[in-house]
Amino acid sequence: MTQTPPLQSDATSRGGSNPQATGETQPADERAPVRVALLGLGTVGGGLAEILAELRAEITERAEGPVDIVGVAVRDLTRQRDVPVDPTLLTTDAAGLVTRDDVDVVVEVMGGLEPAQTLAASALRAGKAVVTANKAIVARYGGALAAAAAAGRGALYYEAAAAGAIPVVKVVGESLSGNRVDSLMGIVNGTCNFILTQMSASGASFADALAEAQALGYAEADPTSDVGGEDAAYKLILLARLAFDTDVQLADVSCEGIDTVSAADIARARDLGYAVKLLAVAQRRPEGLEARVHPTLVPLAHPLASVQGAFNAVFIEADRSGPLMLYGQGAGRRPTASAVAADLVDAALQLRRGRRDGIAAPGAPRPVPALRRGPAVLPTAEGLSRYYVSLRVADEPGVLAAVASAFASEGVSIASCLQEGRGVDPVDLIFVTHTVRDGDLRAALATIAALPTVRSVASVMRVLA
Ligand code: NAP
Ligand code: HSE
Repeated sequence: MTQTPPLQSDATSRGGSNPQATGETQPADERAPVRVALLGLGTVGGGLAEILAELRAEITERAEGPVDIVGVAVRDLTRQRDVPVDPTLLTTDAAGLVTRDDVDVVVEVMGGLEPAQTLAASALRAGKAVVTANKAIVARYGGALAAAAAAGRGALYYEAAAAGAIPVVKVVGESLSGNRVDSLMGIVNGTCNFILTQMSASGASFADALAEAQALGYAEADPTSDVGGEDAAYKLILLARLAFDTDVQLADVSCEGIDTVSAADIARARDLGYAVKLLAVAQRRPEGLEARVHPTLVPLAHPLASVQGAFNAVFIEADRSGPLMLYGQGAGRRPTASAVAADLVDAALQLRRGRRDGIAAPGAPRPVPALRRGPAVLPTAEGLSRYYVSLRVADEPGVLAAVASAFASEGVSIASCLQEGRGVDPVDLIFVTHTVRDGDLRAALATIAALPTVRSVASVMRVLA
């Protein structure tokens, strides 16, 4: 393996810029390369290798010098790989690779919690910049990674971890610094949006739409994290920490998936003037922060209602900028790798300019706020929303009165009600509420579910006001 010379001397790597050490007086392509260890050569890692090969001149210019892969960790050395990477760079010794002296930046695109988290922390402690597309490790171990970065004066970049190609980490973490963010709502799981779009367009069942998403490669082989809402919760955590300067943990996020949404709910919602979307929502209230993921009835006139297929979008309301919406591809080889490449260029620039200063380095938004000065996350029961409720009930006099009475006893105000079906058992009774406290709605539903004329509470979804 070719050993490339060090980018900077120890003396200059921690302090102000030194044109001679960083080679700023030389043409970009003659400067010492930034040396990259790639952990993973699958969908995203392969895509990154293609970018570094195909856009070499542009990347060299933008990064103010070459960016070279010097080692690649994989699981299986015998696998045939159609990627522009020298096969002699491949190794199964990821732990050895991340702390090698001739590595400046570690790109973690292997996925999973372990060994990815340990490797990223180890690289940060060793003073490397780490670029990751792994939302799970940043959401779950952001505090530990920040501590490792502070200890080693490394820097963590994670643009690709939230909404793939959409540069939302940069926008929320840097571009909105002159604002107070009031709310952030995202369609951040492409698999779920694809499934809901298909169910809406063709009346397909959840199971059939999921099978189609898997066949097209949108959903994971095990799609539990996608359809159960956990993947969206991870992305919400990353963005909410930046937007609200507060530490949000997975246990703080109320999480409902789309596996209970039926084609009938979607058709009915459309008749009522709504599209059903899986939204990740973080909303500032005087009492604290609401953080939740759930299927939502979105008014057809809202910009998020028009986001179709596997696309993602993030809608932000901030006090000075007003509303913003970012839209694009949240997954896939080329889109995701493009976000990783952008972070890699940022990291290379920081290294070259000799301005590496722990996790506070420009271009590396902190994975958790240094101070817990933002709003505390509210319990789910304190959340406020309008709700869509679908009940299956006996079709007989007095049923509506009993249900309405149960709602009233918990202070739940009904905005509209309709019955579908007549003379069969059960029929569907549909309610849309005014804004209510989640805990009050759930208490009313517990009473309603126990009524002898109520066969089931078929569906409960929030309605975006
Ligand atoms: P992938 O296609 O499954 O590739 C994973 C790569 O990591 C493979 O090359 C694999 O080696 C290697 N690897 C896995 N475990 C390893 C270990 N213990 N030691 C060494 N190498 C190991 O995964 P991916 O789709 O590229 O996803 C990578 C990351 O990007 C994940 O965190 C994912 O959440 C994130 N992400 C992906 C997308 C997307 O569209 N795919 C979008 C956004 C974010 P072998 O090739 O030898 O098996
Ligand atoms: N599985 C995710 C999605 C892509 O469907 O959006 C990776 O974040």
